[in-house]
Amino acid sequence: MTKGKIGITVLISGGGTNLQAIIDAIESGSLKTVKIDHVISSNENAYGNSRAIKHNIPLSIIKNPDEILSELRKTKSELLVLAGYLKVLPPLFIEEYEGKIINIHPSLIPKHCGKGFYGMKVHESVIESGDKITGATVHFVDKGVDTGEIILQREVFVLENDTAEILAKRVLKIEHEILIEAIERVAI
Ligand code: GRF
Repeated sequence: MTKGKIGITVLISGGGTNLQAIIDAIESGSLKTVKIDHVISSNENAYGNSRAIKHNIPLSIIKNPDEILSELRKTKSELLVLAGYLKVLPPLFIEEYEGKIINIHPSLIPKHCGKGFYGMKVHESVIESGDKITGATVHFVDKGVDTGEIILQREVFVLENDTAEILAKRVLKIEHEILIEAIERVAI
């Protein structure tokens, strides 16, 4: 029964574990307020594509972000979730969806973020910095890179023998948790 649920479009570029966390939360009944209308992937080889297909969620492969707007106008989603999406969205897109686009970033913004800080590079930066605390952040997307209003953050300890890969796995679990909580907060 999807009547009255807020429709979301999830944008991905890679493994899609954040997408999977949303799918699992909806299917388990713990995330009751939204349904996934559409998944838009920037990468035809992204493993996340198979997650959408397996759960019968409409999937579009759109490599050029400039082509996303026309696709979105068809679906009329009320919330866009960037979940491991690596392309820069055009300003016109941000204007049209201001306040309706959220992104998950694997650090405690404003640390270890901005242009060039994505995926493993973020955790490498944390390890190199000697920080003992990192975490994940969900924020609204504005025209900057990782500069929009913060919705939710959660801390993760950096342990003595952490490599970037080990730290990434620990942070990813927290990303999945706060992404669901952030969607519940904004999808009202
Ligand atoms: C995650 O660390 C996410 O924060 C970043 O991309 C990585 C992969 O995310 N944006 P996913 O598994 O594709 O959701």
